[in-house]
Amino acid sequence: MSDEPVIGVVGVGYVGLTTGACLSHLGHTVVCGDVDEEKINRLRNGEIPIVEHGLTEIVNEGITAGRLEFVVGATEVGERSDIVFLCVPTPEDRDGSADLSFIEAASAEIGPVLREGAIVVNKSTVPVGTTIVVGEVIQRADIKVVSNPEFLREGTAVNDFLHPDRVVVGADDRGAAENVAELYSSIETEIIITDAASAETIKYAANGFLAMKISFVNSVAAMCEAVGADVVDVVEGIGSDRRIGREFLQPGPGWGGSCFPKDSHSLVHLAETRGYGFSMMRSVIAVNDEQRERMVRKVQRAAGTNDLNGVTISVLGLTFKAGTDDLRDSPSLAIIGRLRELGATVRAYDPTTTGTLSQIQDSFLKGIEVQQSVDEAMREGDVLVILTEWPEFRSLDFERVKELLSGSAIVDTRNLLDSQSVRAAGLDYDGVGRKA
Ligand code: UGA
Repeated sequence: MSDEPVIGVVGVGYVGLTTGACLSHLGHTVVCGDVDEEKINRLRNGEIPIVEHGLTEIVNEGITAGRLEFVVGATEVGERSDIVFLCVPTPEDRDGSADLSFIEAASAEIGPVLREGAIVVNKSTVPVGTTIVVGEVIQRADIKVVSNPEFLREGTAVNDFLHPDRVVVGADDRGAAENVAELYSSIETEIIITDAASAETIKYAANGFLAMKISFVNSVAAMCEAVGADVVDVVEGIGSDRRIGREFLQPGPGWGGSCFPKDSHSLVHLAETRGYGFSMMRSVIAVNDEQRERMVRKVQRAAGTNDLNGVTISVLGLTFKAGTDDLRDSPSLAIIGRLRELGATVRAYDPTTTGTLSQIQDSFLKGIEVQQSVDEAMREGDVLVILTEWPEFRSLDFERVKELLSGSAIVDTRNLLDSQSVRAAGLDYDGVGRKA
């Protein structure tokens, strides 16, 4: 391997684009490829197709410096690179397993054209054993396959990449793992080198543990409501124990997004196929499903009726969390779907979905009356429901809320508002795990 290997990235979604741009920011030469020609053309002009803090700047920096290039397809990436990162989607299959067809197709495309002695890196989240699958597809003894899982959060992905808590590199060939680890040498962080199966397991175990923390705190919030305690104080009290920590203990409408739901199902599926039931992970998922239903019941209570026919619900927030425009597996959309099944009309606003007619016709949003402002979403709603923690919703003008809403109830599934101020303004307030 040359001293300055050329890096390839196949798939320029959230993970691939961040990986490519950040590696070029670290001084590497990077070629990124994707089947979506329109996306590639936009990227060549420095147009970023997603909302991701700081990404536009480093993509443009890389293009201007001549270190970051975008090409159509995977073949050219394979031909020109010494280390190729696979960052293609691994969606959930009907049985809960991860669909590896994109990984296999990309591996088959680059396999025959890869440079002698090149390294292929699985960056996408994949089941344990996928480095072996990729090796079998490529079928070349000179090519080594490495697992280098990502721990990037959407919205803070650039910062997470450049200032990670750790970098994990796993391979059954130590030399190949060290070559990949070397790419991160200018970052000050702990580099953990393992075998391939352990690296793949680390990724699933990390996401599983984080999802468990949230399901746990959501269960504690339910307990708080049952016994008259306040979850904010409880989290403060347990989080100050360093063994527990304060992070990822924010109660809410349940976890969602493009990773936790699919990874938790895939983890259970993987364990079951190897003869282990993983009852804890199944409970973590069940608690999350329950949590969404609990939020629906809160809205029914606030509306004063279980049958929501003729009831208008004003929703603030559609994305799965703040700081991203990603709607995939958003708890907000799941809860809205249930409210609509119960007959409700839903009028919603999200700062990233104010948009054009074509966005509003997006299949994720079908049937929702997407509005252009908070005021429009609140107009004549019977209940106001906050489903995503966008900071701008924190500073709601309660006099305006009273003026625009037909009803007087707020369901705050993110505990974003100060309950006392809401009540002092003469509105009804229900948060998650908050003292009544
Ligand atoms: C998650 C992980 O945090 C990343 O480390 C990982 O790399 C990524 O998945 C992935 O596998 O690619 P992300 O999906 O961007 O990142 O979102 P998170 O910030 O982890 O939030 C996940 C969900 O949990 C969201 O619905 C969020 O609202 C919810 N959440 C998070 C809570 O309800 N409470 C919390 O305290 C934290």
